[in-house]
Amino acid sequence: MPLLFDQNISFRVIREISAVFPGSKQVREVGLEGKRDLEIWKWAKENGFAIVFFDADFVNFSLLFNFPPKVIWLRLGNSSTKSIARYLIDRTEDIHSKDRIRILKDSRTSAVQNELTLNNIPSTTMQRPDFSIEEVNKIIRGRRSQFVAQFKENDPIDDSIIEEMLENANWAPTHKVTQPWRFIVYTAAGLKKFADYQAEMYKMRAEKNGTNFIEATYQKFKEQPLKASHVIAILMKRTENSGIPVMEEIAATAMAVQNIYLTACAHGLACYWGTGGPTFWGEAREDFGLEGEDMLMGFFYVAKPASDNWPEGKRESMAEKVGWVRE
Ligand SMILES: Cc1cc2nc3c(=O)[nH]c(=O)nc-3n(C[C@H](O)[C@H](O)[C@H](O)COP(=O)(O)O)c2cc1C
Repeated sequence: MPLLFDQNISFRVIREISAVFPGSKQVREVGLEGKRDLEIWKWAKENGFAIVFFDADFVNFSLLFNFPPKVIWLRLGNSSTKSIARYLIDRTEDIHSKDRIRILKDSRTSAVQNELTLNNIPSTTMQRPDFSIEEVNKIIRGRRSQFVAQFKENDPIDDSIIEEMLENANWAPTHKVTQPWRFIVYTAAGLKKFADYQAEMYKMRAEKNGTNFIEATYQKFKEQPLKASHVIAILMKRTENSGIPVMEEIAATAMAVQNIYLTACAHGLACYWGTGGPTFWGEAREDFGLEGEDMLMGFFYVAKPASDNWPEGKRESMAEKVGWVRE
């Protein structure tokens, strides 16, 4: 991956690192000198560059907007061109890692600076958004599950709406910003691929484990996904050595799914989170790229609704589920 150096970093560094990061550029070379950070960000995204910089602005962009581009925050204090180059080359593996942000710092950075991790990236402030509590209450309390029987078949939802749902998922809270949620979206011919996969795995498991094979269940696995517009596999992926308890990563992923639910319902779509099929089948783990404590947490089915009827929600009173301590 070529690197795009911020204007505060000398262009001379490029010659030093070109063998390891070929095609790297300084913003001046691509006509971005003096341009706003956001323009530099967009250029890097469009041209497949990772941004290398000294100050924290681009880190904030990385959290506000989506990855890519990757951003590499050099926290080296005053350093010569040669030492920056050597530093980058020594950390080639780090830079090529899959993380969306790399913070590279050396031992000379102060104790205060060293405390800055992904968990407490200094954030710029912005004006408080003009939230509408009425709208929030309405969508949270009006969100409903609707199932395959309520789906309008063969009338796919625009992918851009699914992307909006996923973008909102990405804004769920997450301890140490590990962002453990991963999604695989099946749509169009992909639905049949998923349907056949789960049906055949059901059959294989019955043969292998000697469990009851029910033809109707097999058919259900083969047919249900085809009635949806999109089926989204929900995965929780652990970050190595994060020190975050697995419960917190499951919780964060569930919060991401709630955002998907709310966004889908705000579009008037029929949807539900299902934990059937391969969710708890150990044999499926490898196929979904899961290792260790990673988890397949189910499937989000979504489609346009067959009718304008919206299901009424059912809940017991909240008063029975809360205790207050006042003195
Ligand atoms: C973690 C989780 C797993 C679920 N799994 C299933 C499922 O396997 N099958 C199903 O029909 N509904 C499933 N649901 C959806 C519930 O049936 C639904 O949330 C419940 O009926 C309440 O309805 P509401 O979502 O409209 O408030 C699941 C929901 C959650 C949060």
